[in-house]
Amino acid sequence: MNLIVAWLLLYFVFAPCLVYGGDTLVVNEYLSGNQTLVSRAGTFEMGFFRPGYNKRTNTSQVITSWRSTVDPGPGLYSLQIDSIEKQYLLKWNKSVEYWTSGSWDGQKHIFALVPEMRLNYIYNFSYVDNDNESYFTYSMYNPEIISRFIIDISGQIKQLSWLDASQQWNLFWSQPQFCEVYARCGPFGACGENRLPFCNCLTAFEPRSPHNWDLSDFSGGCMRKTKLSCKAKEEKPGFILGYVPSRFFSSSENKTLLHNDESECRNFCLVDCSCYAYTFVSEQCHLWNDEGLSNVSLMLSDSNSQTFAINIKVSSSDTPTNASKINTKGFFQDFSVLCYFAALELYATEERKDKDVE
Ligand SMILES: *[C@@H]1O[C@H](CO)[C@@H](O)[C@H](O)[C@H]1NC(C)=O
Ligand SMILES: *[C@@H]1O[C@H](CO)[C@@H](O)[C@H](O)[C@H]1NC(C)=O
Ligand SMILES: *[C@@H]1O[C@H](CO)[C@@H](O)[C@H](O)[C@H]1NC(C)=O
Ligand SMILES: *[C@@H]1O[C@H](CO)[C@@H](O)[C@H](O)[C@H]1NC(C)=O
Ligand SMILES: *[C@@H]1O[C@H](CO)[C@@H](O)[C@H](O)[C@H]1NC(C)=O
Ligand SMILES: *[C@@H]1O[C@H](CO)[C@@H](O)[C@H](O)[C@H]1NC(C)=O
Ligand SMILES: *[C@@H]1O[C@H](CO)[C@@H](O)[C@H](O)[C@H]1NC(C)=O
Ligand SMILES: *[C@@H]1O[C@H](CO)[C@@H](O)[C@H](O)[C@H]1NC(C)=O
Repeated sequence: MNLIVAWLLLYFVFAPCLVYGGDTLVVNEYLSGNQTLVSRAGTFEMGFFRPGYNKRTNTSQVITSWRSTVDPGPGLYSLQIDSIEKQYLLKWNKSVEYWTSGSWDGQKHIFALVPEMRLNYIYNFSYVDNDNESYFTYSMYNPEIISRFIIDISGQIKQLSWLDASQQWNLFWSQPQFCEVYARCGPFGACGENRLPFCNCLTAFEPRSPHNWDLSDFSGGCMRKTKLSCKAKEEKPGFILGYVPSRFFSSSENKTLLHNDESECRNFCLVDCSCYAYTFVSEQCHLWNDEGLSNVSLMLSDSNSQTFAINIKVSSSDTPTNASKINTKGFFQDFSVLCYFAALELYATEERKDKDVE
């Protein structure tokens, strides 16, 4: 039962209502389907939920990820219903939408953008929409099967089922892919779907909080190893490459200027102390300041073709000629989401390896 409490849970079958009489659970104590655990300050509640919209109170129940594996405080990712379109949305910091289920299709009994729901003999899905409320729910055709649906610290939603034989939770389904989660690796952190760990600091950057980074809390992101100093005359900054998924491209850019060509754009950024990155696409020079750049959701490579390369200004001592290891080192070529749990376990070891080669 400990295992269950270690996650922010929701289980659509039971309605929440009964509050457990405390804010602490000890070993061998457990919550039943209709109980929740409320933090002392009342800021968060744990238990089994059915996120939906209450038409009587005009409120929706939002499910939020934990902050890290050891901190159940509210993280940056949440799942909420869009009761008008009858769909679920995943949002970063309650603002940037990065995934949607698509609208409920009452004929096929699936969400439009989750075709996996179709071939299914395990879950009995339904969508309830009446005068009082609007929500999605499911039950198990075989009530012996124990299944749960969570949003975890990675910003992904996951359906897990309990395997009695191996006494483990088995990942049945998850969405979206790790690196499709907005700002997955924090400011200046770059996501690499084919590597372990998934989150990396770009060359010339290091984790802002190595402690949190080691706990898989990547939200703090990375920072420059060497601060850029515009005043030092001898400083000749260079650029390193990062990649931005095209659908997140416009959400953080600071300004766009028309310049004739790439080298003019580059030089403009090089000499402007407030410019920290540029890219030249579609005949346009896009520039970022440091604050805007910290909002950019970066990828490690352009393996996914729907990315734009951006050039990030770094100190000369950190230019790529010195260290470009991190962009070239591959780990797993083809990494399936089903291996995710193995990934978490391998993470600590691999992270140490990374530090050694730096
Ligand atoms: C809570 O659930 C338990 C079983 O899980 C049941 O015995 C009890 O009656 C439920 N209480 C309420 C108030 O629904
Ligand atoms: C909820 O919203 C509806 C329509 O916008 C409105 O008629 C109703 O008064 C609202 N109810 C509450 C409790 O705010
Ligand atoms: C999240 O949004 C709030 C404003 O709604 C802002 O103050 C905060 O800095 C944001 N968090 C991050 C990590 O950007
Ligand atoms: C599936 O769920 C619906 C709605 O909750 C219910 O009416 C129906 O009996 C369920 N079907 C089976 C086979 O359990
Ligand atoms: C809505 O709530 C009211 C009051 O609790 C109840 O009488 C009514 O049956 C509910 N309607 C539906 C469709 O559940
Ligand atoms: C854009 O950058 C300029 C300086 O280059 C700064 O003054 C301005 O506040 C920035 N705007 C935003 C939205 O970051
Ligand atoms: C960064 O994102 C946050 C949250 O969406 C937003 O409030 C803030 O204005 C953004 N900053 C810039 C410079 O775009
Ligand atoms: C490489 O890094 C060292 C210090 O780590 C620095 O002294 C040197 O100038 C750098 N070389 C280049 C070409 O940037």
